[in-house]
Amino acid sequence: MGKFNFDAITNRKETDSIKWNMMDNIYGTNDLLPMWVADMDFQAPTEVTEALMSRVAHGVFGYAVPTNSLHQAVKNWVQNRYHWTVHENWFVLSSGVVTSIALTIRALTKENGKVLIQTPVYPPFYSMIEMNNREIVKNPLKYENGKYEIDFADFEEKLKTGVKLFILCNPHNPVGRVWTKEELDKMGSLCEQYGVQILSDEIHGDLVFKPHVHIPIASIKEGWAQNSVTCIAPSKTFNIPGIQSSVMIIPNNEMREKVMKEQQKVGSHGLNIFGNVALEAAYAHGEEWLEELLDYVKANADYVKQFLKDELPALEVLPLEGTYLLWINCRKLGFTDEQLKDRLINIGRLALEPGIKYGDGGEGFVRMNIGCPRETLLEGLQRLKKALQ
Ligand SMILES: Cc1ncc(COP(=O)(O)O)c(C=O)c1O
Repeated sequence: MGKFNFDAITNRKETDSIKWNMMDNIYGTNDLLPMWVADMDFQAPTEVTEALMSRVAHGVFGYAVPTNSLHQAVKNWVQNRYHWTVHENWFVLSSGVVTSIALTIRALTKENGKVLIQTPVYPPFYSMIEMNNREIVKNPLKYENGKYEIDFADFEEKLKTGVKLFILCNPHNPVGRVWTKEELDKMGSLCEQYGVQILSDEIHGDLVFKPHVHIPIASIKEGWAQNSVTCIAPSKTFNIPGIQSSVMIIPNNEMREKVMKEQQKVGSHGLNIFGNVALEAAYAHGEEWLEELLDYVKANADYVKQFLKDELPALEVLPLEGTYLLWINCRKLGFTDEQLKDRLINIGRLALEPGIKYGDGGEGFVRMNIGCPRETLLEGLQRLKKALQ
């Protein structure tokens, strides 16, 4: 075992956890093993917990402003992990990436404006566009020979239709791809050619498995930095999403001012005091924890792959390049999505995300959250086997 005990089980029942307490609403019962919503079952790095405890012990919780050391921690993280030199005046702190998506859509497009997404994709990509009265334009990912690729001919066709904003998901939830430099180059160049701005959701950017590397699209060319909003966060990386802290990196002054204006319009003040503290502690002290976490999650992914090969060979696990979310193709079983859901809930007593939640192309897939101790993983796999064999 390494320095950190990712095998430890922490009881999360009765802790106001969406993962446990919302199953009733979504799956009709709370009596399932939850492997759905994207948070992990691990304790956050001790440095984060200690920094929060020390802040709590102070006992005065007045309005807070981000410190220079917070900005420095973000700069260092982006420099060390992604080799991108950023300036603190490019940062706009935001309680969450979904909030940032909504604000950016409102700031950079007009009502009825066209916004491009690559499907299947994280559901708020659809809802934030629609709820803000913009039009969704889809560039479906190509699923060929067990891998997802970008259909660049279609991407270009769609850009030509008057798209104003492209929302990139890198690494991609749910398909698990980490886009390569070549793919990012092509997307960036085409967006530049057609005058389309980029909102790059890189919330999973730290959860990438070797030999894959995370490259912020804005880091590739100055022109693309000037054309993009990049969303990063310690939330998925360090398992602190409930603390709600993230950063938008917006190098272009005009774009940044527009986004900040949208923030002001809804009276948003950036992060709360615990968000500031946790974000800084995570980025400043969490790297060693993260490296071990990545090994653990990778071993979980390998375990699932082997288990399914032996026990449920009709299921195909997509290669996990990034995220802790496995995308599993169950189409060969021949079940409808309704049947899949019914068997998982009523036979397996297992809560997975149905692929259809991610839109076109998600039919017959499920998404399994493997950010959990090995014991939980094994239990989940037994339940999956029971449901689908
Ligand atoms: C791609 C992606 N973006 C954003 C989020 C949520 O971000 P936040 O909790 O900061 O709003 C998730 C959570 O699963 C996600 O997968």
